[in-house]
Amino acid sequence: MAKPIGIFDSGLGGLTVARAIAAALPAEDLVYLGDTARVPYGTRSAETVIKYAIGCADRLLSYDIKLLIVACNTASGVALEALQTRLDIPVIGVIQPGARAGVWATRSGRIGVLATAGTVASGAYERAIQGENQTMRVFAQPAPLFVPLAEEGWVTGEVPRLAAQRYLRPLVEVDVDTIVLGCTHYPLLNETIHDVAAELLGHDVIIVDSAEATAAALSEMQGEPRAGPGGSLRILVTDLPGQFAASASRFLGKPVQGLDIEAIDL
Ligand code: DGL
Repeated sequence: MAKPIGIFDSGLGGLTVARAIAAALPAEDLVYLGDTARVPYGTRSAETVIKYAIGCADRLLSYDIKLLIVACNTASGVALEALQTRLDIPVIGVIQPGARAGVWATRSGRIGVLATAGTVASGAYERAIQGENQTMRVFAQPAPLFVPLAEEGWVTGEVPRLAAQRYLRPLVEVDVDTIVLGCTHYPLLNETIHDVAAELLGHDVIIVDSAEATAAALSEMQGEPRAGPGGSLRILVTDLPGQFAASASRFLGKPVQGLDIEAIDL
């Protein structure tokens, strides 16, 4: 039997990555772990996030996964190396693919990154973007309120627009032409972020979704797509499975009746 792909995130948000992977590789079976008992990761120290990430990865290994996607940008920023050293299967983070897509997209070489405080503090996007092309200028901006707004489903209208205006101002001042969404939750606010940025900049701006970029990189890596059947999505959460089910449809972009959601302890 074909082995599944493991995916983990601090909670719900990584379903944006699961959704992009399911669209790019529809015959793959996915096991998703949302660490809902310990979310958010974005406000915690690197040491704590590394410890949590190892716990998630070790649990997913017991599902005989063939590779691991670290859907959480914060965990990708601080724990990827530790996971790659520990696991003997491929471990893929979301930052490198997002960074590469940003470099491909920009014309001016001025790239903004919106991410959690933890991801910004890690400097991981700067390293990844400049690793692709040293001439790039990177401006990383924490946007913490976007996480609860996405979870509430409050993604358009006055409140998210006000938050976007505040967070985007520093990126507008340096006149970026591309903004990488360096957090699992931000793709839900894609339209608001794009529109507010374009208004403030006075010109269009390219929004790069690191979830989409990761799915594209994975499907390139996999080569020949796996033939069906398959395409299952099994979900493990460390707390509040009922609440997770209620919000999951927003992140998956489709109704989720009948989803297999299991509560686990880490
Ligand atoms: N999953 C996190 C990320 O992509 C966002 C939510 C959190 O802070 O845990 O960085």
